[in-house]
Amino acid sequence: MSTLAIHGGKPVRTAPWPKWPVVGKSEEKAILAVLRSGKWWRFSYGQGVELQENEAKLQSTVARFQRAFARMHGCAYGVCAANGTATLEIALRAIGLQPGDEVIVPAYTFIATASAVLTVGGVPIFGDIEPDTYNLDPARIEEAITSRTRAIIPVHFGGQPCAMNEINEIARKHSLAVIEDAAHAHGASYQKRMCGSLGACGSFSFQNSKNMTAGEGGILTTNDVALAEKFESLVWGGRKKGEPWYRHYVLAGNHRLTEFQGAILIAQLARLKSQTRRRMQNAAHLDKLLSQIEGIRPLARRPETTAHSHHLYMLRYDARAFKGLPKEKFVQAMAAEGVSGISSGYGTPLYKNPMFIEKRFFNGPFPVVPGICDREINYADFAAACPVSERACATEAVWLSQSMFLAGKKDMEDIAAAVRKIQRESGKTG
Ligand SMILES: Cc1ncc(COP(=O)(O)O)c(C=O)c1O
Repeated sequence: MSTLAIHGGKPVRTAPWPKWPVVGKSEEKAILAVLRSGKWWRFSYGQGVELQENEAKLQSTVARFQRAFARMHGCAYGVCAANGTATLEIALRAIGLQPGDEVIVPAYTFIATASAVLTVGGVPIFGDIEPDTYNLDPARIEEAITSRTRAIIPVHFGGQPCAMNEINEIARKHSLAVIEDAAHAHGASYQKRMCGSLGACGSFSFQNSKNMTAGEGGILTTNDVALAEKFESLVWGGRKKGEPWYRHYVLAGNHRLTEFQGAILIAQLARLKSQTRRRMQNAAHLDKLLSQIEGIRPLARRPETTAHSHHLYMLRYDARAFKGLPKEKFVQAMAAEGVSGISSGYGTPLYKNPMFIEKRFFNGPFPVVPGICDREINYADFAAACPVSERACATEAVWLSQSMFLAGKKDMEDIAAAVRKIQRESGKTG
């Protein structure tokens, strides 16, 4: 007999989980060095746009970091920006998105994947996800293509690479650009090729919860020098390499990172490989434990997934095996048992947010703009085309955070023990 912790019983676990972010002497030293140098932004070392300069000459922490991150992700060029929302906007502008162009995005993703499209004047079109990976389903992409489609943004959701062979083939057939939203996929790879190098460009986030972080930040990766130079210009107020600082050639924002962030990110990058290995080992162990429990199915790992970053560990919950206990209550009960990094994820698919339903995009009827885009879109209608996203949000998807997977094997057993206890006792949760 073991009363559930949510009803006052003894929790399965009281020990804390690993703290996030992981910080060491290397961050402290690097931050102090920037502080004392008085060179707090990249302009202190010149104008930037050192994309092709000799690495040994790079002094700026941001310049050094973006080179190292890009290389680790199979790319010749990396361009940092303020966050992973700005990087998506910049990527869409750099590929030449025109007002009214349609961009296919998954229905199960963070707001930025779709809001970036709107911010640059495009129209997000939602596609459903695969039932076993929660990644954008290539079959649903094909159905969503119209004469106005210009790009696809596959999101390597939770850190598992999308079906990139199929997606790139569709893109090639219809002449579409592929921008990888790799905000969750630091260090992940597909058939041994790194995420961020699988489309025209990759967009990563360094926001506080991400697998490496400077509190905020983002980077674009690419092997296309012309695209990389556009990124730099769009991050730096529309300037051009070798031109006077007061010459601005394109409309652009200021999305620069500080030298403090560059310094922290260099230190964080040094840990990425070993942390990714550890997360993968623990996730594989938890997969084994959970797949023995009726009503719990970890998401599938595709054979093409040669490295999974496990920004999120996701499982599919079936309330029928828990005497009808709703997902939300299951998550609360798990947290009470000491599994603190658990969440029920998105409450609805993205298109059900008020911004989309009420089309509060600009002060006007957008996306209907006579002469540019005549297609009337009712975002609520995507529900009929996205049953997998609907089910994931309503009853099925449960997330565990990446930092828990920096713990040990024994800690994974606590997660499974908490699930088993709730299953045993669930009739009494009320
Ligand atoms: C899938 C996805 N794309 C883009 C972003 C945007 O990143 P940022 O928060 O750095 O703007 C996030 C952030 O959480 C994300 O989860």
